[in-house]
Amino acid sequence: MKQDFDDFLQECRERVEQQLENSLAPANDLSLNAALRYTTLDQGKRIRPCLAYAAAHSLGAVNGDTDRIATALELIHCYSLIHDDLPAMDDDDLRRGRPTCHIAYDEATAILAGDGLQALAFEQLTRLTQVSATTALALVRELAQAAGAAGMVKGQAMDLYATDTRVDLPYLETMHAHKTGDLIVASISMGAQSSGCADSSTLNRLRSYGRAIGLAFQVKDDILDSEGNTALLGKQAGADQLHNKSTYTSLLGDEGAKKMLAQLHEQAISTLQQFDERADHLRNIADFIVSRDH
Ligand code: IPE
Ligand code: IPE
Ligand code: MG
Ligand code: MG
Ligand code: MG
Repeated sequence: MKQDFDDFLQECRERVEQQLENSLAPANDLSLNAALRYTTLDQGKRIRPCLAYAAAHSLGAVNGDTDRIATALELIHCYSLIHDDLPAMDDDDLRRGRPTCHIAYDEATAILAGDGLQALAFEQLTRLTQVSATTALALVRELAQAAGAAGMVKGQAMDLYATDTRVDLPYLETMHAHKTGDLIVASISMGAQSSGCADSSTLNRLRSYGRAIGLAFQVKDDILDSEGNTALLGKQAGADQLHNKSTYTSLLGDEGAKKMLAQLHEQAISTLQQFDERADHLRNIADFIVSRDH
């Protein structure tokens, strides 16, 4: 893959965009298919696919299985955003600069679009060809655990239960680690395994890096919600406060949250100490996560 970071990001995005396009049915007279395309083929940052590619690159080998894994991760993420925006969840009407799925279509279609994307993600993993069958099964398990009721869905539930009530920092950290961190850790770990040359100590180090940037990603998301600009964000700034959500900024204030972000960034970089320059994309993604404006 490209060495220069901006070129690398662009190449990752193009690769995953192509795979997403190929995995979705054409928009026909069924509004479900149009909704699937509308919510998937848009302006996402594709950070989870980029992490999967960067992790595989750090071990020297990006291949067709990395593409499948990157696509599966983005499909899970897109499904999670559709459901996150539903009236029963965050009740948001703007996402990636456009009306959310349930506004552009209707609530039932949005629920079904999320369901469809989740199943499609796992279908992608049945198409792995380079890793062994044992590794493929382990990857299915890893994605299921990261996305499911012990992972992202658990974090989303903790988020809902922490609305309109004050929680403590350990609760918030667990909530963030699950709702955003688990899929980010899986992105790095699964991407690394697609290379076919990830031993267990390397994987453990990469997962530690993932836990640090996974938490950092949601801390930054909270800061951007509190300070950001709706036009740049492509989603409503100030929504967390409006909905009385428990966030890092609501618990620690903007300055406290920024301090925490800087610590997590430092921690992420230090876990990569033993990696050579092939891990520079992972280092650059850590920088991008803390400095991003959307
Ligand atoms: C937003 O994720 C939801 C969180 C988990 C914080 P992203 O910021 O990655 O959203 P897109 O994919 O770029 O729209
Ligand atoms: C969403 O967290 C996390 C998942 C979608 C799993 P948020 O609710 O903070 O995400 P945004 O701010 O709506 O993108
Ligand atoms: Mg939410
Ligand atoms: Mg939300
Ligand atoms: Mg948010």
